[in-house]
Amino acid sequence: MKRFAGKVAIVTGAARGIGAAIAKRLASEGARVGVFDLNIEGAQQVVEEIRGMGSDGLALSCDVSKPDQVESCFRQVVEKFGQLDILVNNAGVIRDNLLYKMTEDDWDTVIDIHLKGTFLCSREGQKYMVPRRYGKIINLSSTSALGNRGQTNYSAAKAGIQGMTKTMAIELGPFGINVNAIAPGFIATDMTRATAERMKISFEQFVEEYVKTNPIKRVGTPEDIANAAAFLASDEAGYITGQVLYVAGRPTV
Ligand SMILES: NC(=O)c1ccc[n+]([C@@H]2O[C@H](COP(=O)([O-])OP(=O)(O)OC[C@H]3O[C@@H](n4cnc5c(N)ncnc54)[C@H](O)[C@@H]3O)[C@@H](O)[C@H]2O)c1
Repeated sequence: MKRFAGKVAIVTGAARGIGAAIAKRLASEGARVGVFDLNIEGAQQVVEEIRGMGSDGLALSCDVSKPDQVESCFRQVVEKFGQLDILVNNAGVIRDNLLYKMTEDDWDTVIDIHLKGTFLCSREGQKYMVPRRYGKIINLSSTSALGNRGQTNYSAAKAGIQGMTKTMAIELGPFGINVNAIAPGFIATDMTRATAERMKISFEQFVEEYVKTNPIKRVGTPEDIANAAAFLASDEAGYITGQVLYVAGRPTV
């Protein structure tokens, strides 16, 4: 029996990278998946792959920081698949800069997409979960929540997501809803490629430097995060809530 047979999931920012890996992993275990992204072509491609696995999906253009789009897209998923069981708040961007150079726009963009987006989607998701007394919400935080040079905006958003996760766990637990966060370390995606570019080093150099201080001696893959998300989305994790699971190949404080 597939763990997510009969379940419906929404994964935001799922056109590529970690979100795409999570969407495909949940689908491979039977979930039907709402694939949300600004990049609709990428989202449609992921849905094609999901159909190739024998499951089904719905690709929707959704900016998670816009309440009207969030409301409409969640409604379309529930209209098509009948319910919502799993929400993965993954959409994100970086606008890195040292504090003295960081603009208000860099700050607002990152806070709006990560922090407000997670709030808006969780508020919308719980509307469908609470009446059925069932739900799993998984929020993407980051090791940057512990501090990272050039990421005042991003680290604030990712630390905020940890606080939000714990509060939502307390509020939604009585309604059968588990809320947890995953905090990845360095994962090889377009996002970390963009970071290397900003640092004016090659991606290979960036990886090499990171691996030197990493006990597992490699960077993470989107599938490493998808494995953790699938566990937290499953009923095996039914007594785990309000936790932050660091998936970073090293101990964290
Ligand atoms: N890659 C890493 O090392 C790493 C580490 C820690 C945390 N994370 C977090 O994991 C998540 C996924 O990261 P990734 O590396 O796969 O990034 P990515 O840039 O490869 O993918 C992010 C996706 O989010 C989408 N997106 C951006 N803004 C959006 C919006 N407003 N509404 C909807 N979709 C939007 C993008 O179009 C893109 O498809 C992010 O929240 C990121 O902060 C990544």
